[in-house]
Amino acid sequence: MAAAKILSLLALFILGFMASHVVSRTLNRDMAVKESHEQWMANYGRVYKDAVEKLHRLEIFKANLKLIESFNAADHKFKLGANQFADLTNEEFKAIYNGFKPSSKKLSTASSSSFRYENVSAAPASMDWRTKGAVTPVKDQGQCGCCWAFSAVAAMEGINKLSTGKLISLSEQELVDCDTAGEDQGCNGGLMDDAFEFIIKNKGLTTESNYPYQGTDDSCNSKKSANHAAAITGFEDVPANSEAALLKAVTNQPISVAIDAGGYAFQLYSSGVFTGDCGTDLDHGVTAVGYGTASDGTKYWLVKNSWGSSWGEKGYIRMERDVDAKEGLCGIAMQASYPTA
Ligand SMILES: *[C@@H]1O[C@H](CO)[C@@H](O)[C@H](O)[C@H]1NC(C)=O
Repeated sequence: MAAAKILSLLALFILGFMASHVVSRTLNRDMAVKESHEQWMANYGRVYKDAVEKLHRLEIFKANLKLIESFNAADHKFKLGANQFADLTNEEFKAIYNGFKPSSKKLSTASSSSFRYENVSAAPASMDWRTKGAVTPVKDQGQCGCCWAFSAVAAMEGINKLSTGKLISLSEQELVDCDTAGEDQGCNGGLMDDAFEFIIKNKGLTTESNYPYQGTDDSCNSKKSANHAAAITGFEDVPANSEAALLKAVTNQPISVAIDAGGYAFQLYSSGVFTGDCGTDLDHGVTAVGYGTASDGTKYWLVKNSWGSSWGEKGYIRMERDVDAKEGLCGIAMQASYPTA
């Protein structure tokens, strides 16, 4: 009897000890998350309007951290991290940052009928237009859905460098403010091809420094807009749904591509070769500035994004290349295009 009583007391004691241990571990974890949220806020200069908002953001941050930890604990070719989007739900993220409007009308037949790189046969094993001085530093679109302007400008900066020998940072804000007669809607989204059409009609684009980025829609400064620093003569579409065609194009110049960047994995991407999850609902414009093969043999596209240099690999993402789907990963081969000098 006595022995049984001692045993059950012992069992109770052990259970109680374990329970309090779990509680304190949870408390410790909450404290740690709170601290890393404070640290993260300081790193990214995030300020909330009041304590209620802060608590709300902390909860989202906590959920994202949990997701990041469990994702990174599994075997993936890429890692997630608490980047500047770590206090946003995926719905909020999609609503704010992804401003590519897939075209319903197919674009002007004359411009999309020819593909000047169709007979390109020898593609080097890898390409990185940054090392050729054809890519400006990573820019940051901020909370304005004008990825389409950044994508088009990066491709234009590339072809301008290749044709003139000069790398000039060009103005996205000019497109946001002045390219408003057609389908493009500034911070509310647009299309790279429509941006190229505007630039051709406008007979050029001015520099970033002359018409600096504001991150909001404003009225067009026509005086600045008339002060051209670079021009293009046309644009062409890469034949759709062919990574082979996209390779021929990227071998020759930086290329504007549209992708489905709406997933949480893309939102929180940190490093490595991104392999998904994503569909083909094109919602983001970026620029393919190269390609290569990772050390484990995974082939990738080198993609310049416009979310600042703290996102991904210093502002870039490597996206898996030559996947089973003809559309390419996240639809990267669906609506690629480029300006011509
Ligand atoms: C590719 O080669 C074919 C056959 O020689 C030729 O008809 C076509 O015009 C070439 N395309 C380009 C874009 O040069």
